[in-house]
Amino acid sequence: MTILVGYASAHGSTEEISRRIAGILQEQGGEVEVAAVEDVTDPAVFDAIVLGSAIHHQAWLPRASEFVHGHQDVLRDRPVWLFSVGMSGGLPRWLRPSARAAQDRRIARALRDVVRPRGHHLFSGAASAEAFPRSSVLLMRVTGIRLGDYRDWAEVEAWASGIARELRGLGYIG
Ligand SMILES: Cc1cc2nc3c(=O)[nH]c(=O)nc-3n(C[C@H](O)[C@H](O)[C@H](O)COP(=O)(O)O)c2cc1C
Repeated sequence: MTILVGYASAHGSTEEISRRIAGILQEQGGEVEVAAVEDVTDPAVFDAIVLGSAIHHQAWLPRASEFVHGHQDVLRDRPVWLFSVGMSGGLPRWLRPSARAAQDRRIARALRDVVRPRGHHLFSGAASAEAFPRSSVLLMRVTGIRLGDYRDWAEVEAWASGIARELRGLGYIG
């Protein structure tokens, strides 16, 4: 039984989160492969799939959305978990809970009817000024958005452990 942890990452933080998820699944007895979605030609060879994307402009990266839509029949046929990586951790504190909830809802809604995932989780990622045009960096500064690394590894590990528990319950992990 092989589990795929697939990702779409523009600047590497989503890839690192994917590798941590894969590490936890492996520690818990799973046989796991980690791959960028563009390198996965046939997801049908996997028995369960965890799929994540960086968020750009309130949506998954196009290659991740295309993967989900292009392989929806395969994905619907297997246990699937989705995760998204955004920058809610860098928002002003008062705005974080509502912005997070709205983003989580928006993305989950966009994907849920396509693949019927067993879960969706929104993580905070990492971003540096070099990833944005200068005008956007200035705008973020005046609106109180702080760039940085907001990844919460304990949150990532807890989510992955939950998946491992479910996979064990389903008989995918011995
Ligand atoms: C051009 C661009 C647009 C972004 N748009 C959003 C967004 O709409 N919502 C959000 O929460 N984060 C947004 N981000 C932040 C990224 O999702 C975040 O930095 C994430 O960790 C990037 O993952 P990666 O390092 O795998 O590319 C954006 C980042 C960039 C560079």
